[in-house]
Amino acid sequence: MIIIKTAEEIEKMRKAGALAGQVLSYIEPYVNEGVSTLELDNLCAEFTKNHGAISAPLNYHGFPKSICTSINNVVCHGIPSVKDILKNGDIVNIDVTVILDGYHGDTSRTFMVGDVDEKIVNLVTRTEKAMYRGIAAVKAGKYLYEVGRAIEKYIAKFGYSIVQTYGGHGIGKDFHEDPHVLHHFSQHNKIRLKEGMIFTVEPMINMGQSNQVETSTTDDWTVTTADGSISAQFEHTILVTSGEAEILTAR
Ligand code: MF3
Ligand code: CO
Ligand code: CO
Repeated sequence: MIIIKTAEEIEKMRKAGALAGQVLSYIEPYVNEGVSTLELDNLCAEFTKNHGAISAPLNYHGFPKSICTSINNVVCHGIPSVKDILKNGDIVNIDVTVILDGYHGDTSRTFMVGDVDEKIVNLVTRTEKAMYRGIAAVKAGKYLYEVGRAIEKYIAKFGYSIVQTYGGHGIGKDFHEDPHVLHHFSQHNKIRLKEGMIFTVEPMINMGQSNQVETSTTDDWTVTTADGSISAQFEHTILVTSGEAEILTAR
């Protein structure tokens, strides 16, 4: 069941979304060669707490840290670690979810560390553009599958692949609500959009030809590309309106 948010809930979602966006802005200058992802985790956790909010990932189904940090071939759900030190040429997705006054805001972006290979820069900029294409397809009265259709159409020409194993999600009082948002075209998303629906658009794009992913058997969280190729991701939380979708996690 997809929850239609009330005006009061939407106001709270705007505040939670804005704070999640602020966490990403805050962390940006720290994302440099030599920093560990654990340091980034600590900084984001502290900032979130100081703003009266809770880091949603911490203890979520046993997740051990406050943000997800996914480097290079890690698709999503990377666990911050003192052992993961960013180096020149890396890309890292930082995924921030906060709970403010009982409501969630969820956003991520892929950062580039130092001099990144031009092919990888292209993957990152195109993945961000794919997210915005998907968001632009959202409007009350349309079907949700327009999101996946728009992303697929844009991505097709690059020879990349769109991860299908994970998707976007409704969000509100709960971190993950209905609907499950696919980033490829599928009749499973033949769901009529209504004003007041709130969900994420968060495409994961692999540079290689395989959309297959694997989950670490060591930590049960870290998702990597099966072929070892680089993967990028961007995410916003959005509100369906009668016009353009409102991006709640804008920076
Ligand atoms: N923030 C992720 C998402 O976009 C979910 C992370 S779940 C966690 O849905 F447990 F790994 F934090
Ligand atoms: Co997220
Ligand atoms: Co999400």
